[in-house]
Amino acid sequence: MECIVFRLLFLYSILWKTEFHTVLNEAAANNIRGWLEGVLVIVEAVDLVKIYRNGVKAVDGVSFEAGPGITMLMGPNGSGKTTTLSMVAGALKPTSGSVYIGGLDVWGREWRRARSLVGFAPQNMPFKERLNALENLVWHGLIKGMSIRESKRRGRELLEVFGMEDHAGFMVGKLSGGLRRRLSIAAALLGDPDVLVLDEPTSGLDPAARRSLWRRLRSLAGEKCVVASTHIASDAEENAGKVLVFHKGRIVAEGSPEELVEKYSPGSVIVVEGRITGVPEVDEASVVKSSGERVVYMARDPDTVLPRIIEAMVRAGSRVERVEVRKPGLGEVYLRLTGVRLEGA
Ligand SMILES: Nc1ncnc2c1ncn2[C@@H]1O[C@H](COP(=O)(O)OP(=O)(O)O)[C@@H](O)[C@H]1O
Ligand SMILES: [Mg+2]
Repeated sequence: MECIVFRLLFLYSILWKTEFHTVLNEAAANNIRGWLEGVLVIVEAVDLVKIYRNGVKAVDGVSFEAGPGITMLMGPNGSGKTTTLSMVAGALKPTSGSVYIGGLDVWGREWRRARSLVGFAPQNMPFKERLNALENLVWHGLIKGMSIRESKRRGRELLEVFGMEDHAGFMVGKLSGGLRRRLSIAAALLGDPDVLVLDEPTSGLDPAARRSLWRRLRSLAGEKCVVASTHIASDAEENAGKVLVFHKGRIVAEGSPEELVEKYSPGSVIVVEGRITGVPEVDEASVVKSSGERVVYMARDPDTVLPRIIEAMVRAGSRVERVEVRKPGLGEVYLRLTGVRLEGA
């Protein structure tokens, strides 16, 4: 008898708990838009770890917060960006750690609600090659639980936003790389998510196409929280409000591009080009890079150091043809922090 009562109580508590949670979740989800507007942190990743089955620790304790605007994961291939974004978007289960979207746990009981707030464009969006661009958007809409009519309406609207209205009838297999990337982002935007997760949205595009796509993303990001990744320093520098510097599965620094440059790469970059026969050591300047035609120094005070560099070089037998002094960028920051050179640096 005791045993039965205990079991009944236990069952009741489980039921009650479930109901309790559901009630809480409903309340949170119903108020989420108003609530999101009131707070700055929309995405919160807490101590994310991912160890793949083969034992590779791809992400090793990553925590960050992202609010409105573009938050950029910046690092070279293999630094853990894709793994992190997949966990944030709810597509890959973390080994440990949590992700909250608007306070809802992506990997907890509220996963359905949490994920409905996120649009994810992985690097290779699954498209049906034999459907056209609009049909693919409708297909993605249906997967998200939208009606055919709504998917079509929204699909057409998004094709227009991305300047693809003339490509609605193009088979996806025939689209250029740039158009395919735009279509991926349109697909991620179908459900009008508050959070947009984009894995290397401009990879493989030429600089002009990259710039134009980032311009669109910047205007979108005004009202949304965009969490994106790039392995190109200039992409992060020109487009991110906040940069998370990724190195070997960890965040080694974070801040706005200006803050990072100020903190980790103060001073100026001095580029000397010509016929270089020796790279002299100069006080208060450090050599960042050197080749037969080009030496790059970093210096806090270029006005004093530049004449010394040129004098030392000429004395060493080099012929200096061109000198450039510029502010350092995130490429220099990355090099300083990790010893690794990023593309676009
Ligand atoms: N499915 C997988 N199985 C095993 N190892 C993986 C898998 N995906 C990625 N990795 C490894 O995890 C590390 C991080 O990869 P990834 O997250 O793709 O980095 P990034 O996007 O910065 O290039 C790399 O060493 C990569 O080889
Ligand atoms: Mg990647």
